[in-house]
Amino acid sequence: MASPDIRAASRRRFLQYLAASPLYAATPALAAETPSKWPDPMIWTAPPAEPIKSPKDAINVFDFEPVAYRNVPPAHFGYMASGLDDEVTLRANREGFLKFQLMPHRLNDVSKVDAGIEIFGGRYDSPIFICPTGGNQFFHPDGEVAVAKAARSGNHLQILSTSSNFSVDDVTKARGAPIWFQLYASPKWEVAQALIKRAENAGCPVVMVTVDRLAGRNQETLFRLMRADSRDCSACHDRSSFAARAARRHNYDGIDLSSITGGGESSNLSWDTIKRMRDVTRMKVMLKGIITADDADRAAQNGLDGILVSNHGGRGEDNGRSTIDALPEIVAAVNGRIPVLVDSGFRRGTDVVKALAMGAQAVGVGRPYLWGLGAFGQEGVERVLELMRTETRAAMQQCGARSVKELNASFVRRVT
Ligand code: FNR
Repeated sequence: MASPDIRAASRRRFLQYLAASPLYAATPALAAETPSKWPDPMIWTAPPAEPIKSPKDAINVFDFEPVAYRNVPPAHFGYMASGLDDEVTLRANREGFLKFQLMPHRLNDVSKVDAGIEIFGGRYDSPIFICPTGGNQFFHPDGEVAVAKAARSGNHLQILSTSSNFSVDDVTKARGAPIWFQLYASPKWEVAQALIKRAENAGCPVVMVTVDRLAGRNQETLFRLMRADSRDCSACHDRSSFAARAARRHNYDGIDLSSITGGGESSNLSWDTIKRMRDVTRMKVMLKGIITADDADRAAQNGLDGILVSNHGGRGEDNGRSTIDALPEIVAAVNGRIPVLVDSGFRRGTDVVKALAMGAQAVGVGRPYLWGLGAFGQEGVERVLELMRTETRAAMQQCGARSVKELNASFVRRVT
């Protein structure tokens, strides 16, 4: 349960956000609601009603969201912001961090801190990586290429979505170093195999198979914001078939999609399919979307090279399980056999450090860099990543950790 202060602060932020929103006009009752009875100690530091004008004005990553909201068409913003059903998981991803406290170790001489990580031979200056998100041109014409250039400037690991607008070759070029490829296998083995080949040929060292998008989904925020969008969506989106929908997703170029019906979800994925994938590629194979200790143990037993603990940012199913809640038992089940990465809901340096202390090797962000992209393009993404790096470094120093390797379970404690 969030503390009264946090509830008051987030409620204030939500009401300010609504006040700037066209939806507000439709829901005046919200404004008249009685405010929290608890005093709000941050009343004098409320974020400015006017969105920031430049990336350098941002004090934290949340400052980008209202600018993206203003710049991006409502339906596209809804696609990014949406959770599923009651959005319990979406909220749990943020509230989960309140169950854990950092435990500083004092007097450790933290004048020099190295927040870099090494994973599968790749060296990155930050433990924060770019999660795969589809269709980045929804937010800015430079899409994934702008994201790659920002990742390059801070030397972050980037994982590219199968559904990206730009191809894995173009994004690798913009990143200037190998990127990892996220695979939506689709229901057809031939399509999965062709995508794996494409990623391998582009020099990706790792393919990360997403295993938590198996069914259609009720993205209520998206559907409501689509109704608020007066533009003619069919002018850009041909939804007549999977192949038509994939037309601007250039990783599919040259791949025959004609036999795929419906939404193309990988409902038939099984451990056998994963084995088949491992047999046809020399890339490392990881699973994205593991959320239980049993599945994590099975992944290690089945020879997977790593897992990403993820609930798709609350977009897979509304199961209510935050990833930070799931992480400790998963790390215990894996017991060092394979790397464990985590994403979903990470916004603050302290969030990142909590996960690293629990045993995650790296931490992914999704929406924050999309807010930056929608707000200011590449520069916005750069600033979002810079803010998260700065906060992470400060949190490490305050904790008394000079490197990611030094962080361990003694730096974090569960309190509820
Ligand atoms: C995603 N995510 C995602 N995951 C994936 O495996 N393939 C994909 O194409 C996408 N696309 C996508 C689009 C958008 C708009 C969002 C917000 C997310 C999930 C993503 O990789 C990651 O798991 C979450 O975004 C992490 O949660 P936060 O940081 O957004 O809270």
